Amino acid sequence: MTWSGRKDGHEWWRHAVIYQVYIRSFADGNGDGVGDIAGIRSRLPYLKDLGVDALWINPWYPSPMADGGYDVSDYRGIAPEFGTLADATEFIDDAHMHGFRVLLDIVPNHTSSAHPWFQAALASAPGSPARQRYHFRPGSGPHGDQPPNDWRSVFGGGGWTRITEMDGTEGEWYLHLFAPEQPDLNWEHPDVAEDFDTTLRFWFERGIDGFRIDVANSLAKAAGLPDVGVDQSVAAAMYSLADHPHWDRDEVHEVYRRWRRIANSYDPPRIFVAEALVYDPERLARYLRADELHTAFNFEFLECPWLAEPLRRVIDATVLEHAQVAAPPTWVLSNHDVARHVSRYARPQSTSRTRTLDDIIDKPMDLALGTRRARAAALLMLALPGCAYIYQGDELGLPEVEDLADDVLQDPTWERSEHTERGRDGCRVPLPWSGQVSPYGFSPPNSAKPPWLPQPDYWRGYTAQSQADDPHSMLTFYRHALRIRRTFEALGDGPLVWIDSAPDVLHFSRPTGFECLVNLSDTPTDMARDSRILISSQPLTTRSELPSDTAVWLSTNS
Ligand code: GLC
Ligand code: CA
Repeated sequence: MTWSGRKDGHEWWRHAVIYQVYIRSFADGNGDGVGDIAGIRSRLPYLKDLGVDALWINPWYPSPMADGGYDVSDYRGIAPEFGTLADATEFIDDAHMHGFRVLLDIVPNHTSSAHPWFQAALASAPGSPARQRYHFRPGSGPHGDQPPNDWRSVFGGGGWTRITEMDGTEGEWYLHLFAPEQPDLNWEHPDVAEDFDTTLRFWFERGIDGFRIDVANSLAKAAGLPDVGVDQSVAAAMYSLADHPHWDRDEVHEVYRRWRRIANSYDPPRIFVAEALVYDPERLARYLRADELHTAFNFEFLECPWLAEPLRRVIDATVLEHAQVAAPPTWVLSNHDVARHVSRYARPQSTSRTRTLDDIIDKPMDLALGTRRARAAALLMLALPGCAYIYQGDELGLPEVEDLADDVLQDPTWERSEHTERGRDGCRVPLPWSGQVSPYGFSPPNSAKPPWLPQPDYWRGYTAQSQADDPHSMLTFYRHALRIRRTFEALGDGPLVWIDSAPDVLHFSRPTGFECLVNLSDTPTDMARDSRILISSQPLTTRSELPSDTAVWLSTNS
C-alpha cells in the first residue's frame, strides 16, 4: 500500500481521524469473553467502511491486568489472552493492507509489579542497584512506618506502599502514582531510558506507525522527592500547579527529544501522541516543539461543557498555542478513562468540567438530548483544525453504562477509593455488534464465557448491525461525516476563521469553501441560504434555520 497526497503522505498525522481500540472490549475472536487481536482483525472491514485513517490500540502486552493492561510486565510481548507476537505482526500488516496506520500505547511512567525488574528489586537489599530503577525510600517517622512524602495515588489513597524485605522485616517504601501494582520507574537511571529505546525500536521494526504515550507528563520527579505541600483533592488544580514535584516538570522533555530522534531515524518517520493532563495550553504546547512530540490530546476540550462560550475559549486557546509550535491540535470527546460523552451531554450543563461517571451520576439524565448533542459535537470536532480521535462505540452512540453491579467492577479506582468512586468500567463494556441478546456478536455464537463486563439489555438497539442500514443512525451519520471530511481539502490541519454569529452559536469557516455552524442555544438560528448543505446532525425542516443542539457543514464554493 502506498500513500500520497496532503492527507496521505508523511504528514498524515496532521489531518488524521484515529480510532481508539480498547482491545479487551472491541471484539472477541475465541469466545473467552475478552477481546483479542483476532477480533480486531475480523473487524478491519467494518473500520474501513467507517472511514477512519488510523487505529490506536490500548496496551496489548503481557500484564497481570491490575489496571486494564497499563501494568506491563513485558513491553516486547503480547498478553496470551490477546494472542501471540505472530498474531500481532500479521495484524499490523493486515491493517496496513487495509490502508490504516497503527499506533500502540507505551507506558513509561511505571511497570507492573510483576515486571522482572521490580521482582529483582524486591529480592535485593535496600540501596542495591536493582532498587534504583524504581523509587524506593525508607519511611518517615521514628519507626519508618509513615510514607516518605505526601504524594497521592491518582486512583485514591497514598502514593507509597511499604514492602516486606527478604528477611521478613518491615522494609522500604516504593512510589506508585497509580495502583500499588504499578511502581513508578526512576527515569534518572540509564537502564530505564535505554530499555525504552529498545522497546520503541522493537515495535517500529515491526512496522507500527507511532505510539500514544501514557501519562507523558509524570516521568520526571523533583530531586529529593519533596512534599507537594498543598491540598491534593482537586485533581485539575493539581495538574496546573507551578513547579509540581511530579507533574509536568521541565526535565521530562529530555525524554521526548531522545524519542523523537529515534522516531525520525525510520522511513517514514514514526509519530507520537501524548496523553498529558496539562491544562495550560502554553505548557501543553511545550511537548510539541519541533524536536519533541507530534501531537497531544486536548483534554480541556473533552472536559468542556456543551456551552458555546467555554467551547469557543478552548478552541481559540488551543489553536493559538499549537500554532506557536506549528503542531496540529488534537481533539477527542471520549476515551477509556472518562464517562461517554453521550451521557455527559445528557446532563444539565454547568461551567464546571466533567470527566468521570462520578462527576455526573447524581444529575438528571436525558439520553435523547445527550445523543442529539453528541451528533452535533461530532460535526464540531471533525471540522476543527488538526486531527481527531474516536473512541470505539462513539460511532454507535453508546451511552455510559451507569448501573454496573458493584461486584462486577474491575477498575482499581473502586477499591482504592473505598467504594466511593465507581471508576471507568462503564465506558469499557464490550461493544454490541449484532443480534438481540448479549454477547451481541462481541463473542462468537455459543462461546464458553460471557463478556468480561455485562452488556445491558437495551444495547440491542445499539448494535452495529441494526444501525448499518438505518439512514438516521449514529453509525450512518459518522460514516457520512468521515467520508466528507476525507474528501474535503479544507478539513484536517489548516486555518480556522470565526464568523460573527448569534449568542451561543459557533460559526467558523475552514478556508476555502467550508463552513461549520453549531447551534448551542435554545432557539433556532439563521443559516445563510447561498451555501450548500453537506451534512447536518439532525434532519432539517427548513433551509433557513438551524434548530437547537444541531450542527451543519456547508459548502460555500457553489
Ligand atoms: C492513563 C491511562 C489509564 C491508566 C493510567 C495509568 O491515564 O489512560 O487508563 O489507568 O494512565 O497507566
Ligand atoms: Ca478472546
